[in-house]
Formats: sequence, structure tokens, C-alpha cells
Amino acid sequence: MTLLQVKGLQVRFAAPGSGPFGINRQWVKAVNGVSLSLTTGEVLGLVGESGSGKSTLGRAILRLTEVSAGQILFDGVDMAQGKRIDIERLRHETAMIFQDPYTALNPRMSIGDTLAEVLRVRCAIPASLIRQRVDELLTLVGLRPELADRKPGSLSGGQCQRVGIARALAIEPRLIIADECVAALDVSIQGQIINLLLELRQRMNLAILFIAHDLAIVRRLCDRVAVMYLGEIVEEGPTEAVFSSPRHPYTVALIQSIPHIDPTRPLLDATLPGEPPSPLNLPSGCAFHPRCRYAQPICAKTPPPIRDINGHRYSCVLGEPLF
Ligand SMILES: Nc1ncnc2c1ncn2[C@@H]1O[C@H](COP(=O)(O)OP(=O)(O)OP(=O)(O)O)[C@@H](O)[C@H]1O
Ligand code: SF4
Ligand SMILES: [Mg+2]
Repeated sequence: MTLLQVKGLQVRFAAPGSGPFGINRQWVKAVNGVSLSLTTGEVLGLVGESGSGKSTLGRAILRLTEVSAGQILFDGVDMAQGKRIDIERLRHETAMIFQDPYTALNPRMSIGDTLAEVLRVRCAIPASLIRQRVDELLTLVGLRPELADRKPGSLSGGQCQRVGIARALAIEPRLIIADECVAALDVSIQGQIINLLLELRQRMNLAILFIAHDLAIVRRLCDRVAVMYLGEIVEEGPTEAVFSSPRHPYTVALIQSIPHIDPTRPLLDATLPGEPPSPLNLPSGCAFHPRCRYAQPICAKTPPPIRDINGHRYSCVLGEPLF
């Protein structure tokens, strides 16, 4: 069942220091016409270089950032133009897990109090049941209930991130947006958190939008993957299809920039040259053309067509697989 459908979403920010009172104001087009969908129980990876708009897209879907245009259909209701009551339902059914487990938790509150506050304020659970529910949540994320009395400072990064996940699960969400939620953790702890997310997805039929830089983790965790470049999704499809036969030159370069993902594949000289251009001044035509080794004259003039091969979509003039 389709839980989330995003259509033509745009988010723009007024560029710092540009034109006061709207005169000559410049806009950062952080999310520039994104469409994607997520079904119940599905994990969608969102990858792309720093500044491509991943976090802004995640925050806009949860209406934590103002939307400039487009639709965010959650259970069929458009949250982009949502009434207050709809946005409140969105808040009750969605949660976010952040990158830094320490700063995401209040250092002065015990773990148990942090979880209890969410249960009391957001779930209206009676006081008599809260302690039991806190214990259940800690057990669910693989922590001993005795940790409830501890403060975040006395826990490891991995334990803190488990608490962050427990806090997200407290409201029994249907959709979780995890923004670089394992990036700050050691590799072995990352594996444990990924396993936990996989298990919870199975058990609770959660839909997860998993934002990450690390393509190897995305390949392991996600059913589908979307690749973002300068505010647009340039390629999207089933994870194995995208990783084994990427179609967009940007995806190819991203995959080839991490040789360990497939040691049998020769590393070509296609790693990405330079930095992405500023989203203040998006290139004409295909936004990737100034960095694309396959660019043709038409690429600078008109936006590329969107191609669809059995649900594997990409926007590029090239029709043949690159490898
Ligand atoms: N509040 C804001 N005001 C102005 N510009 C912003 C704001 N938030 C983000 N941006 C800009 O929007 C663009 C997208 O930023 P965003 O944080 O969404 O990227 P990201 O893909 O999450 O990057 P990273 O991988 O580094 O987390 C960037 O150019 C950023 O500078
Ligand atoms: S449309 Fe042109 S510039 Fe854009 S990715 Fe394809 S070949 Fe490269
Ligand atoms: Mg980000």
C-alpha cells in the first residue's frame, strides 16, 4: 500500500544577504521538483553528495521545513497544503532519527525520562503504564531496562542511537526518516543498528526513508534507492538494479568512487571532477552537464527526458547502460 507519495516538491530558501525586502532576492533551490513514493514496510535509500538537498527533502516531507510547491500525499492526504489537524496526524505517524545521537538527546534528562516525556505528551499514555512501556521500548531496541536511570553522557554512541530509535518508535510511527543515523558510529556498531532497523521494519511494517552517504550500507538495507543531485532525483529504482546497472552518469561516478563496494569491478577514471555547482545558480538543461563526461551539446540546453525501465527511472539523454 502506498503510504507516501511526493509529487513535484520544491523547497527554496532566501539566500543569506541577498536583496532585502524582496528586491533582487536570490533563492537557493534546495529541492527542485522531487517526486517519489514509499509503500508500507519499504526502505528507500536517499543518496547524493553533501548539499544535494537530502536533509531538506526529509524535513520537508515531515513539514519541519516550509514547502514552496508540490504535493506530499501521506495516506492520500496532501500535507503540503495540510490543515492543522492533518499536520498533527502526520506528526503522530512519523518520526525522525538524527545523525548525532548525543546532541539529539537532552543531556540533563535520564533516558527513561526522555522516553516517558514522549509517551506522556505525544501518546497520552496514562502515568501508571509509562514505566512498563519505557522498559518495553528499551528492550525492543536491545537495551537493558536498567539503563532507564542513566543520562546520555554515560552511554556509548551506539547505545544513544538505540535510545534515539526507541524515542522515534515510542509514538508507533508508520514512517521514519533516518538522516545519516549511523554516520557518527563505529563500523561494527553501524552493523548492529542496521540489523536493528531491518528487524524493526519487519516486525512493525515500518516505512523508512534512509538518508546516507555510505552506499555500501544503503545497498545492504534498502529495497530501493534514489540518487539526488542539486535538488533533483536523477535516478531511482530497485537497489540491485541501480547498483548493478546504474544508468545516470552521476550514479555511475558515485558507485565508482567507492571501489570496495565491488572489488571485482575495475575502477575506471570516472570519479567526479570538482564540486557540485551552487544551488543558487543551477546550470541550464541537465544540472549535471558541467561535470558530465558524456555531456552532449543538447544537455546544456534542455532538461533530459525521464526514462523508465520496469520501475528503474533515470533522467538522461543516454539510452544505453554505461556498464
Ligand atoms: N535553512 C537554510 N537556509 C538557506 N539554505 C539552506 C538551508 N538549509 C539548507 N540550505 C541549503 O540547501 C542545500 C541543501 O542542503 P541539505 O542540508 O538539504 O543537503 P544534504 O544533501 O542533506 O547535505 P549533507 O549530505 O551535507 O547533509 C544546500 O545548498 C544548503 O546550503
Ligand atoms: S543528460 Fe547529458 S549531461 Fe546530463 S547526465 Fe545525461 S549525458 Fe550527462
Ligand atoms: Mg544532510
